[in-house]
Amino acid sequence: MKSLGKLAKGLALALAVFALSTANAATSAAPAKAVKSKADIEIGQICMDCHKKESPGIVAEWKKSTHAKEKVDCYDCHKGKEGDKGVISHEKDKAGKPTFVTTIVSPKTCARCHEKEVAQQQRSHHAKGGEILASLDNIMGEVIGGPAAVNAGCRQCHGGKVEMDASGEATYDTWPNTGIGRINPDGSRGSCSACHARHAFSSAQARTPNTCGKCHLGPDHPQMEIYEESKHGILFRANEKDMKLDAKKWIAGVTYSAAPTCATCHMSATRTQGVTHDVGERISWTLRPAISTKLNMVRLANGDEFDQPEGKPLPKIGDEVKGSKVTAILTWEDRRKLMKNVCFGCHSANVINGHYKQFDDVVNLYNDKFAKPIAAMMKELVDKGYITAAPFDEKIEWTWWEIWHHEGRRARHGASMSGPDYTWWNGIYVVAQNTYFKWIPEMREVVKKKDGNEKFADELLVKYFKPIAGHDWYFNGISKDAVDKVRKGFEERYGKGTLK
Ligand code: HEC
Ligand code: HEC
Ligand code: HEC
Ligand code: HEC
Ligand code: HEC
Ligand code: HEC
Ligand code: HEC
Ligand code: HEC
Repeated sequence: MKSLGKLAKGLALALAVFALSTANAATSAAPAKAVKSKADIEIGQICMDCHKKESPGIVAEWKKSTHAKEKVDCYDCHKGKEGDKGVISHEKDKAGKPTFVTTIVSPKTCARCHEKEVAQQQRSHHAKGGEILASLDNIMGEVIGGPAAVNAGCRQCHGGKVEMDASGEATYDTWPNTGIGRINPDGSRGSCSACHARHAFSSAQARTPNTCGKCHLGPDHPQMEIYEESKHGILFRANEKDMKLDAKKWIAGVTYSAAPTCATCHMSATRTQGVTHDVGERISWTLRPAISTKLNMVRLANGDEFDQPEGKPLPKIGDEVKGSKVTAILTWEDRRKLMKNVCFGCHSANVINGHYKQFDDVVNLYNDKFAKPIAAMMKELVDKGYITAAPFDEKIEWTWWEIWHHEGRRARHGASMSGPDYTWWNGIYVVAQNTYFKWIPEMREVVKKKDGNEKFADELLVKYFKPIAGHDWYFNGISKDAVDKVRKGFEERYGKGTLK
């Protein structure tokens, strides 16, 4: 009886999710076939004939593609209108008239045939990845690093603005670039070849974890490393040949069952959801900022969407917001249901709910024990003139920044995707070490420098840390009980008197 009850729980969830996803029109539709003139078909052949000699690799990749089978040729994607930004006069057609082509092929071009995918991508965080380079965070790159590192570093992941020179060619400073939120000369955002490498443009390649791992790795967002150390990543590597990455419809638990990839959980179809190019749809927390919040999603009639943190008032469907009308709202619970629906392809309710409990607990531990009180103390230090308001000009600001931006994120990311080493050794362990043995001593130093004594530092710690049970050991020492417990366990294992 018990297992039947669980089954019913799973089924109810699957049905609820079906209602959610159809409301979002996530059903898949075949792309519109291109309607082409005879002249355009001829020009496409001319491009191919010459490029077969000039750059055979491009034509060979294209030949393998679904596009080649569907007769989507060079000119379908690279055709430009004379006089438009980024359009160059290239070779000649059969009649000897010049052809006009674009080097940049933006999502707008793909949208002619893939309207649904582009609409999802344009409203997502991915399409906005290039905008953050105009934010405060960019000070780190531009000022403390240097522009060359921003071009060949940040912008190759985030995307930057592609600038055109007088002849209509993209400038070497800004292109090549397949950053996720590239800002294109036609005003569209993103680069589809961030995940679908040209000129094969395949789903199979985009479904592999390494595709996402180009950007989602490293000290501040090690999703790739976490995946590799998780059961899921291990099983993907062990069973890659059974993953049917080439299948047209790729459904977790049905087409393949050995393991999920990044795409499985964040983008691909389930038994009841369509593929989504809106990668944030299935996420309930943001793990990026100093303090994590749960996020509700508000969709607008103009095609855009934004996150509204839990606790802030939610508009209603039909309300005027940000110059448009609200068309749909996904609460953080709705978003979590969409992700759980993916897991149900391969798991039962208890594994999934247990995973989320352990994940939420780590985020709350990080938030409540470390991030919130430290952020509050940093604010007091600025407000009372102990440190300047400018970011990164004092050592303590770097320490706090690394606590939340590096190890604090690693702990949260590790817990979200089953990477125990990142949750603890690369995560909370380093958060704790840097809090107690770097940040606190540095705070004492800045206070002493201004006041000549550490009184205000002690006041802050008593005000913000002392009421939190987890900091008890710092104020009162590690309790005798806790030490005795360890001693007992140790001596049971290794013999009396072995613990020094
Ligand atoms: C007669 C040979 C020839 C034909 C025909 C031809 N191309 Fe090219 N194309 C080239 C060569 C050579 C280059 C490389 C030019 C260079 O390196 O500066 C090139 C470069 C390009 C580029 C890159 C431009 C840039 O600024 O980086 C694109 C895109 C392109 N071709 C697309 C096309 C398309 C689309 C057609 C058909 C309309 C076409 N080509 C027809 C020879 C040709
Ligand atoms: C489905 C659309 C599509 C088709 C079909 C297509 N291209 Fe491209 N091509 C792209 C995209 C996207 C880029 C990347 C440009 C950018 O960064 O925006 C690109 C880049 C290029 C470049 C410059 C980049 C490089 O690596 O040198 C050349 C040259 C080129 N294409 C030629 C061709 C030729 C020749 C064909 C036909 C065999 C072709 N393309 C077919 C979309 C397409
Ligand atoms: C002229 C129409 C047209 C344009 C423009 C076009 N495509 Fe396609 N694309 C198609 C068709 C048709 C298919 C095959 C659809 C199917 O089989 O359901 C396809 C399939 C695909 C697939 C799935 C391939 C696979 O087999 O896994 C991807 C990915 C894709 N296109 C990406 C792009 C991108 C990115 C662009 C822009 C750079 C683009 N397409 C531009 C018509 C187009
Ligand atoms: C290796 C690729 C890569 C490089 C290089 C990189 N980033 Fe990022 N960045 C990412 C990814 C991936 C995320 C999203 C992480 C997540 O969601 O956990 C991100 C997140 C961010 C965010 C948070 C965005 C938000 O919506 O909260 C900012 C701001 C940012 N990066 C700025 C920069 C700047 C500035 C640089 C260079 C000084 C830079 N990044 C270099 C990949 C990169
Ligand atoms: C973040 C990586 C990523 C980016 C960026 C991306 N795609 Fe995809 N795309 C995927 C994945 C993964 C799949 C395979 C989904 C699945 O499992 O069926 C896919 C599948 C597709 C398909 C096949 C149809 C379908 O729904 O399965 C088309 C068409 C497509 N993408 C077009 C585009 C276009 C156009 C863009 C640019 C606006 C784009 N993609 C950008 C990852 C990406
Ligand atoms: C088994 C499913 C699963 C797999 C596989 C998976 N993820 Fe996740 N991912 C999650 C879950 C669950 C969350 C947290 C969702 C939430 O906030 O409710 C998450 C969160 C994220 C976030 C948001 C982080 C932030 O800072 O807010 C990013 C980015 C991400 N994953 C990228 C990836 C990448 C890249 C891969 C592959 C290397 C991957 N994921 C593999 C399930 C998965
Ligand atoms: C070219 C770099 C790049 C690639 C490739 C890439 N991402 Fe991202 N991704 C980013 C950046 C940058 C952000 C943060 C954007 C922002 O919030 O400004 C991000 C954000 C995300 C988020 C958080 C979305 C949200 O709403 O908070 C998820 C989930 C995600 N990516 C998953 C994936 C998956 C899955 C893949 C592979 C199929 C992938 N990404 C490929 C750069 C990339
Ligand atoms: C395509 C199938 C598939 C999908 C989808 C999938 N998993 Fe898994 N997962 C597995 C397999 C297989 C294992 C390995 C089980 C084992 O260790 O014996 C596993 C292991 C796990 C484990 C470790 C369990 C243990 O006993 O140690 C957790 C936790 C987990 N998955 C959570 C999730 C969550 C949460 C999701 C959705 C966000 C998810 N999985 C999606 C196939 C999947």
